[in-house]
Amino acid sequence: MQKIITEANMHITKDILYAGVNDREIDLFEGQYVVPNGMAYNSYVVKDYKTAVMDTVDRRFTHEWLDQLEKALDGKKPDYLIVQHMEPDHSANIVAFLKTYPDATVVASEKAFAMMKNFYGNDFEDRRLIVKEGDTLPLGRHVLHFIGAPMVHWPEVLMTYDAFDKVLFSADGFGKFGALDAEEDWACEARRYYFGIVGKYGAQVQAVLKKAANLEIQAICPLHGPVLTENLGYYLGLYNIWSGYGVESEGIVIAYTSVYGNTKAAVDLLADKLKSKGCPKVVIHDLARTDMAEAVEDAFRYGRLVLASTTYNAGVFPFMREFIEHLKEHNYQNRTIAFIENGSWAPMAMKTMKGLLEGCKNLTFTEHNVKIHSALSDVSKAELEALADELCMDYLQQHGETANKNDLTALFKIGYGLYVVTSNDGKKDNGLIVNTVTQVTNTPNRIAVCINKQNYSHHVIKEKGVMNVNCLSTDAPFSVFQNFGFQSGRAVDKFKDTEVLRSDNGLVFLPKYINAFMSLKVEQYVDLDTHGMFICTVTEARVLSDRPTMTYTYYQENVKPKPATEGKKGFVCKVCGYVYEGDELPEDFVCPLCKHGPADFEPIA
Ligand code: FEO
Repeated sequence: MQKIITEANMHITKDILYAGVNDREIDLFEGQYVVPNGMAYNSYVVKDYKTAVMDTVDRRFTHEWLDQLEKALDGKKPDYLIVQHMEPDHSANIVAFLKTYPDATVVASEKAFAMMKNFYGNDFEDRRLIVKEGDTLPLGRHVLHFIGAPMVHWPEVLMTYDAFDKVLFSADGFGKFGALDAEEDWACEARRYYFGIVGKYGAQVQAVLKKAANLEIQAICPLHGPVLTENLGYYLGLYNIWSGYGVESEGIVIAYTSVYGNTKAAVDLLADKLKSKGCPKVVIHDLARTDMAEAVEDAFRYGRLVLASTTYNAGVFPFMREFIEHLKEHNYQNRTIAFIENGSWAPMAMKTMKGLLEGCKNLTFTEHNVKIHSALSDVSKAELEALADELCMDYLQQHGETANKNDLTALFKIGYGLYVVTSNDGKKDNGLIVNTVTQVTNTPNRIAVCINKQNYSHHVIKEKGVMNVNCLSTDAPFSVFQNFGFQSGRAVDKFKDTEVLRSDNGLVFLPKYINAFMSLKVEQYVDLDTHGMFICTVTEARVLSDRPTMTYTYYQENVKPKPATEGKKGFVCKVCGYVYEGDELPEDFVCPLCKHGPADFEPIA
């Protein structure tokens, strides 16, 4: 809910009044942003035993503002002019104000006074009060608390909190394009304003939001746009998403340039495919014709962006270059990016666009992209289909009609740790690698461990009823997996050259590469055909380091060497890299190294 300010009602609270102006004459705000519904330059008056005026307005509205002020002051003389922000849309009338009210003191940050000298040739040494974060200015019942807000949007910015009425004067924060009498959605023009003007400084906005979280706020009074008085969680929530570079809305943005319509045809076809695959919103921007600030805003609003451009001068079309430079300049991050490039003899657009994005944090590039040679062909249409599938994967799977309900690769998404389970057959120590250790209850602590019956350890543990679970840490090298995972303890002594350490149950625990171990006593056994599940209580537990636990995913990505598949035809084991050469993998095949079955093999690409 926003407070409607009218000539007849300038009151925000009993003591705080609005005294700003609407600008319906402006063509470009800050020299670059189109503002079809104008702009508001807000100014406020806080009346108490002493009276403070919060900020001035743009230079084109001197007399209109002074008239407004006179009305709001209603015979009172202002004691202070508080300058929260020195950008001229707010500071241009400082001199005019001080001439009108010669007894008033200027209150601002030190940096603001330095800027005053540069902008207006005077830093008012004889009538100023320098304040900083944490300082207060008592007016009577109202005590103004100053909050440092550097880079929201300039370095000198202060916000101000009135603890009596619980009002936050938020400078440019929570501002928007549009005059106060414009009837339009707040979020739409506030978002365009935010990403255009403050977007680069997400970290600084987050810092201010943290300070604001400690305040009880009943109204937010920004320097542009309406006073916010209700449902403040909505506005604060949006600012938290925007400044955290989070995804606000589900959907896909396609930003393109096209010279003869062939790239546009690919964009239109992709948009149709995305919609048919369940994408809830497809937003298209022709960068030569759209409002660039609107395109930038949408790139930040949604989580996925397709960049489609023709090749131009061995690079990319100028509007696309400009668009990507805007994104980069505003700290674009945390998004998924896909490319469509067009080129009649030497396509270079994709390489150039990717290069321009270099340095942006946490971008994920799609596996599928589209290359068009002049006009769409069957090949590029198939590439568009593959790209649409990739971009819409979650949308397709969220809906019953389009979902693949039998995709057992879902099982690979279960997070697993990797463990060496040690045991002893009465003659020698043994150990094997498992990823199937789970705590199943906590009163008492019970741990379930599943072991393949083909492993010698299964036989030993079933007989002896005890084991140690060693939790591998991320420093464990591949040799640990080779030693404990790829050979049988019946045939070899896995601890042959190791000086062993023992826990109270007499079993070994690993001297390195683990962050903890637990000694377990088997209480129940569940026969699971190929595997046996041992349900155990814990008899001893020690933590040896703070290093993170080795997960199956970490092992796959960082420890396991890439399998030697070059020039080979057949299947490769995803667990250990064993290569089976042949046209078909037998249904009952068991990996001779890690003992995993066909489900863990994939064809050699
Ligand atoms: Fe509204 Fe940063 O000036």
